[in-house]
This record gives sequence, C-alpha cells and structure tokens, in this order.
Amino acid sequence: MTSSNRTGHWAGPAIETAGLVKTFGDTRAVDGVDLRIEAGTVYGLLGPNGAGKTTTVRMLATLLRPDDGQAHVFGHDVVREADAVRSRVSLTGQYASVDEDLTGTENLVLLARLTGHGKKASYDRAAQLLDAFGLSEAAGRQVKNYSGGMRRRIDIAASILNTPDLLFLDEPTTGLDPRSRNQVWEIVRAVVAQGTTVLLTTQYLDEADQLASRIAVIDKGKVIAEGTKGELKASVGAGAVHVRLRDADRRPDAERLLRQALGTDIQLEPDPVALTARVGDGSGGGSRAAEKASLALAELARAGITVDNFSLGQPSLDEVFLALTGKPEQTRTPPGTQHGTQPETQQKKEATA
Ligand SMILES: Nc1ncnc2c1ncn2[C@@H]1O[C@H](COP(=O)(O)OP(=O)(O)O)[C@@H](O)[C@H]1O
Ligand SMILES: [Mg+2]
Repeated sequence: MTSSNRTGHWAGPAIETAGLVKTFGDTRAVDGVDLRIEAGTVYGLLGPNGAGKTTTVRMLATLLRPDDGQAHVFGHDVVREADAVRSRVSLTGQYASVDEDLTGTENLVLLARLTGHGKKASYDRAAQLLDAFGLSEAAGRQVKNYSGGMRRRIDIAASILNTPDLLFLDEPTTGLDPRSRNQVWEIVRAVVAQGTTVLLTTQYLDEADQLASRIAVIDKGKVIAEGTKGELKASVGAGAVHVRLRDADRRPDAERLLRQALGTDIQLEPDPVALTARVGDGSGGGSRAAEKASLALAELARAGITVDNFSLGQPSLDEVFLALTGKPEQTRTPPGTQHGTQPETQQKKEATA
C-alpha cells in the first residue's frame, strides 16, 4: 500500500550530534549541543522560547547548515549526505505543506500522488489517515476552515503519509486546548508504534513526560540536563504544592507550618496570600507527594489558617529551571521576540482543603 523506508541495516542511533553550533549575528542559538537519540524512541527537547529548539531541528532536517560540530541522522552526515537524510525524515509544517484552499482529502491525496502513490492507493491512504486522526467528518472541508487542533492533526497526517523513519515534531501542541493536545499525543503514540523515531520539541514538561522516554533540557543553546524522565524528575522533585490563603496576615505562620510539615523551603509568591513548596524526593512518585501535601494542609487547618485554594502539580518548566540552575528562567533568558506563542498555564489537579 505505502512504500516504506525502514531503517534497513543501520543499527546505530537515529540521531547523533557532537558540538553542534549555529550563530545568528551575536546570538549563539545553538551552542555546542551533543545528542544521542536511539531509533524507535520519542526524544523530548524541552526548553523555553528562544532556547534553540527549532534551530537544532532545522539543522538536523538539513534546512540549516551548522556553523560547527557534526550531526548524523541514521549514520548520514546532515551536510555532506543531506539527500540521504532528507529521504528518511519528515518535519511537520515544512515538507508537508498543507494547502489551505484544498480539503483534507485533497491535500493528502495530492501529497500521496506527488510521492509516487497510485490513485487508488492515494485515496485509501488519505481515508485511512483522516479516520485515524478523527478528521473523517471534516475530510471534505477546506483546511482554512479547520480549528487549530484539526489543523495540527492534518499537518501531522501529511508528514507521516509515507511513514518516515524519523519525524520532527516542533512544538506540535503549543497553543492547543487540552482536548486537542490529547489527540495529538495519541497520534504521536500511534506513529511511534509503527517504528518511527520522533524528535519532539516542547515547552511543556508534562508533554515531554507523557511522550518521551528521554529528555534533554535546553536553554540558551545549551543542553543543561539530559536523561530519562525518572532521572530528570528526581533532580527536580516530585511536584509542587501551591497554596492560597484567605488572610495574608497568616502567611508567616503558614510558611513555618508548611516548612515543618514538608521539610523543604517555602517560596513566598509575589501575591501576598500565596505560597509554593516543592514536595517529594523524586523516588516516591505522585501519591507520596499527595500524602505529604495533605498532612501539611491538615496542619494549617489545625492552626486555624483558612486555605482558599490548593493545588498539587507537576513542577512547571520554571521550577525545573529553578532546580537545575538555581535561578528562575525569566531572569536568565531575555524575553523572546521571535514567537507569538506563550506557554499555557500548567495543568494542575485542583483540590480543596
Ligand atoms: N533566522 C534567524 N535569524 C536570527 N536569529 C534567529 C533566527 N532563528 C532563530 N534565531 C534566534 O536564535 C535563538 C534560538 O531560536 P529558536 O531555535 O527558534 O528557539 P526555540 O525554537 O527554542 O524557541 C533565539 O534567540 C532566536 O531569536
Ligand atoms: Mg521553536
């Protein structure tokens, strides 16, 4: 049905880079990046706006020439063997250019025909992908009338038309609502189940956590942490408790009680009724963090301190940066001017005390 280009004899990593560098004027967008990404896995490149994620991906996809260092994709040098690399990779929104004026079906059929599929095979593949991506009902509508989530899905559908060996997903869910996000995650899982290696860039810790087996945290062009999800979380802590008090006057008492109960430093937020504490040691997991947090809240109740709102969440990207570097992200990274999207607020499990 579709021509498949599986990895053949190559038994090494899907991606390997050494000292990769790209500068734009005075900006060292990518500043000596070493990566090793095993075939058949999802690898997360996690970092804030302007960290160098897209520049890294563009070099690996042969769209941008590195200034220094090396990168190999399935053993092929991205500069000297760019054609061999291109035949193996797909990048959402780049190679797969979806035409806004065509319908979902027309787009996929056109791309299938362009890449050598027969007419019937093209329609079959289009229908199969539209169905798999929950777009069957929208198949006959022009893409310009799609919602943001549908648009993201048709982009990914187009990019995996030919089952690439390696798929670059550059912030595939930035700006999407939670439901669309979940749909994209399901698609990524399905793509990986077919043997495709995925390099996913994201600003969201929970997205990397959901999808990636290994994660590199990148900031200012440098990898500042790398490892499995477990290793990364252990370095950060299991989660954060956010507490909002009824009465700002009670915050010093609350701080003292929380510090005793949780055994960690309490962060006083700019909002005079808010406090944040990291909980868990990374080995106990979420339930242990929840247990500690509920004991701490009981202490507050016993002292007659009213809690208006309480949430227990994964550490945010800010908290990851704080833990890894000892400094909040925003004081170290100049505000990005290059992208319009802002991270969504971290989803949290709300609970009432
Ligand atoms: N074409 C370009 N010209 C000049 N500066 C660029 C260009 N592309 C990226 N940059 C700069 O390089 C840095 C990294 O950008 P980018 O790789 O897009 O980060 P990310 O994808 O992580 O948000 C940023 O400071 C950005 O402004
Ligand atoms: Mg980017």
